[in-house]
Amino acid sequence: MTTINRDVIIIGAGASGLTAATELKKAGLTVAVLEARDRVGGRLWTDDIDGAMLEIGGQWVSPDQDALIETLDDLGLATYERYREGKNIYINAAGELSRFEGDIFPVPVQTEHEIVSLIEKLDVLVAEMDPERPWDHPRAKELDEVSFSRWLESQTDDQEARDNIGMFIAGAMLTKPAHAFSALQALLMAASAGSFSNLVDADFILDKRVVGGLQQVPLLLAERLGDDVHLGQAVRTLRWSDAGVTAITDGLEVNARRVIIAVPPVLISRISFEPSLPRRQQQLHQHLSMGFVIKVHAVYDTPFWREDDLSGTAFSPYELVHEAYDNTNFEDPRGTLVGFVADEEADGVFTLTAEERKQRILTSLSHYYGEKALNPVVYYESDWGSEEWTRGAYAASFDMGGLARYGADLRTPVGPISFSCSDMAGKGYQHVDGAIRVGREAAAAIIATDAK
Ligand code: FDA
Repeated sequence: MTTINRDVIIIGAGASGLTAATELKKAGLTVAVLEARDRVGGRLWTDDIDGAMLEIGGQWVSPDQDALIETLDDLGLATYERYREGKNIYINAAGELSRFEGDIFPVPVQTEHEIVSLIEKLDVLVAEMDPERPWDHPRAKELDEVSFSRWLESQTDDQEARDNIGMFIAGAMLTKPAHAFSALQALLMAASAGSFSNLVDADFILDKRVVGGLQQVPLLLAERLGDDVHLGQAVRTLRWSDAGVTAITDGLEVNARRVIIAVPPVLISRISFEPSLPRRQQQLHQHLSMGFVIKVHAVYDTPFWREDDLSGTAFSPYELVHEAYDNTNFEDPRGTLVGFVADEEADGVFTLTAEERKQRILTSLSHYYGEKALNPVVYYESDWGSEEWTRGAYAASFDMGGLARYGADLRTPVGPISFSCSDMAGKGYQHVDGAIRVGREAAAAIIATDAK
């Protein structure tokens, strides 16, 4: 066992932990970043799969994500636009395909009216919410007691309108069924992106990608930190008191004045705290759980859908793959589609064999893009549910009532312990931008305390 002494320990080398470590080091403090995996990046992972560069985790950057954009600029990383020329596709409950342009799906006029009205109502509620303090919304408790699906039912009888609006938050964002999270949690998801309108606008929320992959953010941050990043060091035990902390891994013992725990909140309880965390934290961490989505990558010799005047953007709350996009890499002659299978649909296909699952998923893609979609040259499913150090995707959200009850204490430090993770962010919640924001905030609070 090697023992080292530092000012601050950071547990977790995701975007959040590495940002915090970078800020602390800039301020002259010594740091040790302890990472369980043998790589940095956590939910950012760009890899070569059968000769194709795939973004196994997070990838898109939207224009409001200024903390992430500043980091990309600082690291000298270039971005490029998602391909969006041509028509989008929508499949309705009867399985009928239509092509469309703009944001609103080609649905009957009355349904379109209901969708627009729901978006307007949600935008009004979101405008009343400070994403940093959703529990202060004037109707926070009431909205946290009702599931998003029930809330939608209380607003409209139009099933197709409800299915579409539900999909944007449920399958597409929190990756839980709309009956499993509250209306307040749904509003936070929208407020974190500025408005509900932003969230349903694929050209906004899925605007750009990073040339060479988004994992370069943690990779380059870690490169700057050099020997301060320790891989393969899962923190098993954290001893703490007002005098300081000791983090113990299988091979290292690190003593410090402070610690930032930068891991998904569902993994905090994997660490043995000596003494235990206070009852408030022990309780609140039990009220968060990870969503679940399979990110499916299918690479073809060419982006064949473009020849058919299709953008590659496709949606249907009634398809196994509820949304799909052209995800072709920068200046790559091959074409890549990315699709998503969420929550209960993902549970369902994981009861099948790998080959049956692949066929079901490719068949769903073929409903949007035709038979050519059935034969990719590379096929890969990102399965974060089986990753020990993540356990789901994209991120964690509260159960019913949990946000109003516990949200305010999610990032409240306990003695020398601070918490930081995208899943605890307000603006940029569940996104890399949020990870960076809360990482900066946790570091700034420690630096400010030191300056006193
Ligand atoms: P993250 O989980 O990345 O890092 C935590 C780190 O802690 C991990 O490296 C883990 O190994 C480590 N750890 C855990 N327990 C430990 C222990 N006991 N000891 C030591 N280390 C420990 N976002 C976005 O902005 N745009 C997008 O397009 C997408 N898309 C997307 C797709 C998919 C499939 C996923 C899974 C996620 C996204 N996201 C996204 C979300 C985004 O990737 C995510 O919000 C951030 O990367 C999270 O960064 P954090 O640093 O907060 O946690």
